[in-house]
Amino acid sequence: MRIITTINEMQTFSKKTLRSGKTIGFVPTMGYLHEGHMSLVEEALKQNDCVIMSIFVNPLQFGPNEDFDRYPRDLKRDEELAKQAGVDILFYPNVKEMYPKERTTRLTVQERVDTLCGESRPGHFDGVATVVMKLLQIVLPDRAYFGMKDAQQVAVIKGLVEDFNVPVEIVPCPIIREEDGLAKSSRNVYLTPTEREEAIQLSRSLDAAANAIERGETNPVRIKELIISYLNQTSGVIDYVEVLSYPALEAIDVMKENIIVAVAVQFTAARLIDNKVTTRSEIAIGV
Ligand code: PAF
Repeated sequence: MRIITTINEMQTFSKKTLRSGKTIGFVPTMGYLHEGHMSLVEEALKQNDCVIMSIFVNPLQFGPNEDFDRYPRDLKRDEELAKQAGVDILFYPNVKEMYPKERTTRLTVQERVDTLCGESRPGHFDGVATVVMKLLQIVLPDRAYFGMKDAQQVAVIKGLVEDFNVPVEIVPCPIIREEDGLAKSSRNVYLTPTEREEAIQLSRSLDAAANAIERGETNPVRIKELIISYLNQTSGVIDYVEVLSYPALEAIDVMKENIIVAVAVQFTAARLIDNKVTTRSEIAIGV
């Protein structure tokens, strides 16, 4: 595995790879890799000749009171994991390389950001859109892989590449979970042992919601109440519980389309998110 730290070298490598007729799969990350990231690499390896992973903790997507400084970082460990997983190139730029001067153009995401993490983290998706747009221009991938744990991010990025005609296929990949159901996340390390036990209520609440929907529950308010009854068993503070259309992320009155059930809970030092996206065919109702 080769490590590249400059934009120039990364673009030169990608252009040469594409000219030789090979395809590039791209896995953008902020590092502190876990099985969720590895599953993206696995998928990218199946579909492409060359797999490039980026590790860049993007300051633009963190709010002033968020965890940019203490976001977990461990390059040596990440390097080893990426190498073992079969990554060909690790792109690891620093902040100065990615943002060398004051930007003259800004990306503002207009749709799908007035809810879920967009509502509780103002500006977050502008930062994500900006860095993803830059990374796509630098890495020039045929396909880019994103985990559905950040389902709102997937919806926003799909909108971004459509709006700007970026010639890349966005490939959403399933959420990878711990044995007890907790969604894998770099931030899980910040849970206290008690909070770690309580955190399984997030996935349990979503399972209960999915079961209720399957049994015919069509009222989003009742589904939210059910979810809240699980989350109230934790010491965390509920940030949001939403039942929305997906990928439009619009409020719905009754369950009659593809929906996302999504939750966010703030624990002492970690804010956890989780969701379930249910397609219409999976909903056993006839409204
Ligand atoms: O999902 C993430 O890790 C980040 O939001 C991403 C897509 C790498 C952009 O910084």
